[in-house]
Amino acid sequence: MKIDTRLAERLQKINPSATLAITSKAKKLRSEGKDVVTFAAGEPDFDTPDFIKDAAYEAIKCGFTKYTPTTGIPDLKNAICDKFKKDNGLVYVPSQVIVSCGAKHSIFNALFVLVEKGDEVLIPSPYWVSYPEMVNLCEATPRFIKTSARNRFKMTTADLERAITAKTKVLILNSPSNPTGCVYTKEELEAIAKICVAKRIFVIADEIYEKIIFDGQRHVSIASFSKEIYDLTITVNGLSKSHSMTGWRIGYVGAPQDIADAISKFQDHSTSNPTSIAQKAAVAALRAPDDFCVRMCAEFEKRRDYIVKRLSSIKQFNVVRPEGAFYVFCGIKGIKLDSLQFAVRLLDEALVAVIPGVSFGWDEFVRFSFATNIEQIEKGVTRIEEWLQKNNI
Ligand SMILES: Cc1ncc(COP(=O)(O)O)c(C=O)c1O
Repeated sequence: MKIDTRLAERLQKINPSATLAITSKAKKLRSEGKDVVTFAAGEPDFDTPDFIKDAAYEAIKCGFTKYTPTTGIPDLKNAICDKFKKDNGLVYVPSQVIVSCGAKHSIFNALFVLVEKGDEVLIPSPYWVSYPEMVNLCEATPRFIKTSARNRFKMTTADLERAITAKTKVLILNSPSNPTGCVYTKEELEAIAKICVAKRIFVIADEIYEKIIFDGQRHVSIASFSKEIYDLTITVNGLSKSHSMTGWRIGYVGAPQDIADAISKFQDHSTSNPTSIAQKAAVAALRAPDDFCVRMCAEFEKRRDYIVKRLSSIKQFNVVRPEGAFYVFCGIKGIKLDSLQFAVRLLDEALVAVIPGVSFGWDEFVRFSFATNIEQIEKGVTRIEEWLQKNNI
């Protein structure tokens, strides 16, 4: 890699995003009036509920527009503590909760205070695009744990044990997962927790898709099993996916006190508080019953069933049925193109946008998001079938 002396070396290790190549091209085609069907969305396609917007209007009207305490207003931290207790069986006091500008910010903060040069961070693969780059930004080393479609993209305890070295400091665990929709069972999480406790490995548990989980399953938080694993876990969550609030930028962690104190210090000198108005909106969201999340999840489940049925009938594809989130990670081994070539050609020739799996570490897969309505899913998959047939691919 050519080093540019104008920029810090740490930044030059960061990879450009293959995801962006597709999403910006799809946007450009749309702006030219082309009828693009997109399976690229990383956010729910529902509007933020009105009662949440109303709380934000009210905050503005009352002049709640100034700095707040760095780690969040007491009302919000109390609401988060109550949510952790009710949904996850986790007891955190407000000083253990840090509210940040989205779960992405929360994860970066956690990594920043935990790891440095010489440390290794374990990341099951396929992984969310930002994890390895955040680890690189912290000058630590990402170590990938390759999973298999056969095991529904879930890391086994044997996989985990093999990957641990003397330098391993953190495991990033994401369930339900982006990009695969896989969900770890309670038993699987318990087994992983035992290993992390025995080897003193911290866990960053990214639970942002907690509320989007199918087939009557219930999300389980790894920190809930014992005091030992609680003391090693940073539980990450936020409002982006559960309440369709991606633009509001509210994420949070519950963490052991010393780690929360370190994040607080870091956030004090980097970003300060998340937006005051969005915090008031988040209080309204968390204090309300889960009706909106439940309705949205039911709609995602219907779409999951439909898209899985349609994609499974395409013989060149290998589909693993997701159990949560709003993505299908679909094998394209039957097609003699790598994932970027496939995604570019599909967009150019059939006006359908999918995300190349290479962004998530897997070049023989693509990610379909079903954060779009059934009519669009129908239209998009039909276009893919016709394109494959026409091109004899
Ligand atoms: C797995 C995962 N974690 C975290 C985030 C970040 O969420 P936020 O928008 O709250 O920063 C995303 C967003 O796509 C995600 O997919």
